[in-house]
Amino acid sequence: MTEIAPLTPFGLDVLLGRVAHEWESRGRIFDLPSARFWTGSDQVDLTMDFMGRPAATPVGPAAGPHSQLAQNIVLGWLAGARLFELKTVQVLDDLDIARPCIDMETIGFNIEWSQELKVQESLEEYVKAWMMIEILRHWEPLLELIGDPGPHIFDMSVGYDLAGIKTDKVAAFIEGMLDASDVIDRLRPSIPEPFAAFRDHDFPTRISDTLTLSTFHGCPPDEIEAMVKHLMDHHGLDVITKLNPTLLGFGRVVQVLQQDLAYEHIRLNRLSFVEDLEINRAVDLITDLTDYAVRNGRRYGIKLTNTMVVNNDKGFLPDDPMYMSGPPLHVLATCLLDDLLSTMPGTFKVHGHDGPVQVSFSAGVSKDNISATAGMGVAPITMSSDLLRPGGYGRLEPMLRQLERDMVAAGSENLAAWHDHSWDAARALGFRGPAEAHMTDIVAGHGRAEYDLYAHEELPRAVDHDLEMWGCVACNFCVTVCPNDAFFRLPTPEGSDISGRQQYLVLAELCNECGNCMVFCPETGDPAKAKAKLYLERDRFEANEGQGFLVEAANGGVAVTAAAGFESEVPLLLRLLNDKAEGIPIRAGDLG
Ligand SMILES: Cc1cc2nc3c(=O)[nH]c(=O)nc-3n(C[C@H](O)[C@H](O)[C@H](O)COP(=O)(O)O)c2cc1C
Ligand code: SF4
Ligand code: SF4
Repeated sequence: MTEIAPLTPFGLDVLLGRVAHEWESRGRIFDLPSARFWTGSDQVDLTMDFMGRPAATPVGPAAGPHSQLAQNIVLGWLAGARLFELKTVQVLDDLDIARPCIDMETIGFNIEWSQELKVQESLEEYVKAWMMIEILRHWEPLLELIGDPGPHIFDMSVGYDLAGIKTDKVAAFIEGMLDASDVIDRLRPSIPEPFAAFRDHDFPTRISDTLTLSTFHGCPPDEIEAMVKHLMDHHGLDVITKLNPTLLGFGRVVQVLQQDLAYEHIRLNRLSFVEDLEINRAVDLITDLTDYAVRNGRRYGIKLTNTMVVNNDKGFLPDDPMYMSGPPLHVLATCLLDDLLSTMPGTFKVHGHDGPVQVSFSAGVSKDNISATAGMGVAPITMSSDLLRPGGYGRLEPMLRQLERDMVAAGSENLAAWHDHSWDAARALGFRGPAEAHMTDIVAGHGRAEYDLYAHEELPRAVDHDLEMWGCVACNFCVTVCPNDAFFRLPTPEGSDISGRQQYLVLAELCNECGNCMVFCPETGDPAKAKAKLYLERDRFEANEGQGFLVEAANGGVAVTAAAGFESEVPLLLRLLNDKAEGIPIRAGDLG
């Protein structure tokens, strides 16, 4: 167990203070420029149905780094996400996750699984995000820009075994999401000006009543079945189970990944195929759980797919095995979807089958394939890897615009019409449906060039310069690739002798040293360690070793205390942070 928690979430007062201050001073919220806010479509209706509930768009963050902290969820919402698969919560909430834990240098690998917060803290983060979205969707300045944002859905995720999800701790989390009245009432008084009128707001108290079940690679099928039934019976939830790409079988994965897509160097973990659910048992499981759900007035679905377990021969991440996501997973998940549709006709809630089982899709989705993915009839469509690339959350809005453009070009007014169109187009070419058409394109057709090894060999740009605390090529990547919005930038004060137009600083409490900014930084070094680390909490500051600065409110601005050896940086920091126009992106009055 780490002595200092990897993350210390900000309070609702600080977060909303940041919203107000950034909006006023920079025309941004959590570093997302307003040009990247999703302002809806007046040409098509992107509403999707998720197990009987509407969401205004079909996209959102998959359980992962973008759905853990409150500001992450708000960022996704601003950019157009309307379905949030929340970070997986499990009973073991004092895990030590090795660092770095994310490697998006080429296609996407990680060793990060489940939340890094205490279970109770996760509940509070999700409630905070829920309240902030509710406030922002009624906040005049934003409404003028984005109009009616439409409905959104929070989908819980828990793991990883029956004993764990039956514990009082996890049960209390689920019940807290079903009825968050207590947490909402506890947080109300911390809503700051200029949002104080919302302290009496009638916040909906049911935050979520659906759940995507995350299981360990190798979880026995009987245990998966028992967990789904427990969640349906005991908590009254509609449940999705996450399936693994190993369902395709070892031979098929070797064929697609290593031969068709040329990722010969990625070594598969044979044991994971032996231990994981195999296709016949999966078919029985889906059939049984569908019947069970129907008999009990509940809904059931599947998510394609979990990440792929592979051996770690890259060495960047410290654990072995590691988990592969991104473009090649998109191909594997599409193959699996097509297999399941052929094996179980009439089972799934996709066009041409019209069965009861929702198919949630999460595998290497990006602007390039959002339209083909939506055309397969799957929903929701969630993503992690693409949002970890430069542009970050800001990649969602262009993704939705692409889908809108393709739908308009086809004359499709809504997603059902887009499914019809994709179905007719695939059938006209002799395919079983759009899943087979898309699979054929990306395994063996023109589309393959976007997914194979050669499309993803190029490493992020590099310049031959060691990263320093002040000055750098100012590419802004560390700001956009950070899922936690821990980085921010400030203009270099006039007349100062440091180089560069912009200076980059990190909010230490929000940085869990995942490594993603280091991968994309063109200079040599780790921005999360090299750039000035600002602490808002004295305890964390005092426990920190190395450079760091405690920032506190003082005389209408901020005061700075430096870690030993870094005192000479204080005058410059004071100039930067107390700048009247921008300064620290949090209102000084909200600092403790
Ligand atoms: C850094 C990272 C952390 C993740 N954490 C979780 C998690 O906590 N629970 C879970 O079920 N899936 C987790 N996932 C898997 C994603 O939910 C998603 O299914 C997978 O990454 C495939 O989507 P992508 O190709 O868009 O990344 C994680 C993925 C990444 C990249
Ligand atoms: S600042 Fe960098 S290392 Fe820290 S959480 Fe953000 S991306 Fe990860
Ligand atoms: S620290 Fe690195 S990633 Fe961040 S702006 Fe500077 S050069 Fe770019």
